[in-house]
Amino acid sequence: MTDFLKLANGGISRIKPYQAGKPIEEVQRELGIADVIKLASNENPFGMSPKAREAAAKAVASGNTYPDSNGYYLKKRLHQKFGYSTDCLTLGAGSNELINLLFQLFVNPEVNVVLPKYSFVVYSMESTVNGAAVKYVPLDNWKVDLNKVLQAIDAKTRIVAFANPSNPIGTAISSRDMKDFLKKVPEDTLVVIDEAYNEFNSGDPTFEDSAKWVAAHPNLVVSRTFSKAYGLAGLRVGYMVSNPDIASLLNRLRAPFNVNSVALAAATAALDDDEFIKKTVDNNTKERARYMEFCAKHGLDAIESKANFVAVGFGARDAQKIASELMKRGIIVRPLLGYALRDILRITIGTPEENDRLFAALEELL
Ligand SMILES: Cc1ncc(COP(=O)(O)O)c(C=O)c1O
Repeated sequence: MTDFLKLANGGISRIKPYQAGKPIEEVQRELGIADVIKLASNENPFGMSPKAREAAAKAVASGNTYPDSNGYYLKKRLHQKFGYSTDCLTLGAGSNELINLLFQLFVNPEVNVVLPKYSFVVYSMESTVNGAAVKYVPLDNWKVDLNKVLQAIDAKTRIVAFANPSNPIGTAISSRDMKDFLKKVPEDTLVVIDEAYNEFNSGDPTFEDSAKWVAAHPNLVVSRTFSKAYGLAGLRVGYMVSNPDIASLLNRLRAPFNVNSVALAAATAALDDDEFIKKTVDNNTKERARYMEFCAKHGLDAIESKANFVAVGFGARDAQKIASELMKRGIIVRPLLGYALRDILRITIGTPEENDRLFAALEELL
């Protein structure tokens, strides 16, 4: 029998498959529970905007034809709404696809990648697949210390990547600190700011749109998604803002019809529904505060989050047992074993009712 692992390219045999949150249907099937809630994958608990749903349903009717390969209307809407030049945009089947493509373009065995410790796992997976070493920078009280990141960058560093706010930790770097950092990074080191949770990082009056800095910093790449606040995770659509040369490379490498027509239509319409985003973000801000109160009251060590989830430390208690007990009660949360954080569970902030259910279950277990 042929050893296909040996035939596969480079570092693929050295990575483990991505561990996704358990789907609701799987828990229903395995545990025989009908009423299951998923607080594990940072999805939007309100579903998607009605405008997006209507546009998606309409687009299904034309499913026999190929999508617009260049995503003209979505790019145009992004330009109108945020001012990004369309030649700086690349669309992807989720931002994950774009991150993969970017690493494929720029990472190889001759370079290294600098990441804060406990970064979103895809960055290290893609570094390994493409043969590069990863240099991890320790966090300082769960926050990224940009001075330490600067110290870690050397002549071989091709990419430094951050999720901002971070996943799975939830802390964020301020616009001011990031701008200062960008001035000091070597020009041939790409700085990737992955803003999957950007919309939830509200309330800071000094917050700036980092994608606007691309003109001044050609080595900056900002990644965004419609999967989280916009509620389109299942449709798979995201975008990158970069300088036109990088966008052109990404657009060469991507598959010709990488974003399907339903996703394109839904994302374009979703950008018209500010009310839905406001409802989503307001609920998240309010409920996030309730998580912090609940954790403080019960002696749990919640990390202050700027995202739509909270990483909760259970200390000496058995977090894995708590996760499996929650599962038996129909609540799926996310253990962070893949990050070697055994005592922490990442819990997505749901609707007030979902959060009440989680709090009641935790009270019973604690
Ligand atoms: C930090 C971060 N980046 C990117 C993604 C990928 O999201 P998507 O491919 O759905 O856009 C996720 C998903 O959980 C994430 O947490």
